Amino acid sequence: EMGFTVAIDGPAAAGKGTVSKAVAAHFGFAHLDTGLLYRAVGRKVIEGADRLAAAKALLAEDLEAEGLRTPEVAQAASQVAVDPEVRAALVDFQRAFAARAGGAVLDGRDIGTVICPEAQVKLFVTASPEVRAERRYLELAATGHEVTREEVLADVIARDERDSERATAPLRPAEDAVVIDTSDLSIDDAVAAAIAAIEARR
Ligand code: C5P
Repeated sequence: EMGFTVAIDGPAAAGKGTVSKAVAAHFGFAHLDTGLLYRAVGRKVIEGADRLAAAKALLAEDLEAEGLRTPEVAQAASQVAVDPEVRAALVDFQRAFAARAGGAVLDGRDIGTVICPEAQVKLFVTASPEVRAERRYLELAATGHEVTREEVLADVIARDERDSERATAPLRPAEDAVVIDTSDLSIDDAVAAAIAAIEARR
């Protein structure tokens, strides 16, 4: 299908990534985790780069760099993501991905509202901060990060605030988004809800 786009937005650790990957696999669509763009820029800033220069020079292969999933890089990502010039520098890459033949799933914070307002399907995947912090804690602990539950909850809340309150492209559901609250859903149920919402619009 030419340019069939699924936009999946929501806060950190709500299950967007899991749902996006499963949906892409189910329909045979390409998947872009747009958080990786901001993380790749954030990581370069930690290494001393200028954020706008890093955003303008970003390459697809930078999204595969190691060390993008750390809490330190997540914080740096949410800081560079506040800058409207950084965001603007990353728009074309995302829109080109969305226009791929064969369909695309993009997940992030502003896909349905700013990047792909014409997306055929918009989902807003969310969950309570406590549930999200617990999931992220278990994920980080399982991958050997030495973090406490308190630190992870504080990190989730700080990023929520920064993402929701920034002037440019704040985190919010598009008016026509289907909201999926995963607080009390299993992964399978969340994925099934997303697939049903997409089937209804194909
Ligand atoms: O989704 P992830 O946690 O990897 O995103 C890292 C940070 O990148 C977010 O906290 C947010 O500030 C920023 N981001 C964004 N817009 C997107 C994706 C991510 O501002 N579309």
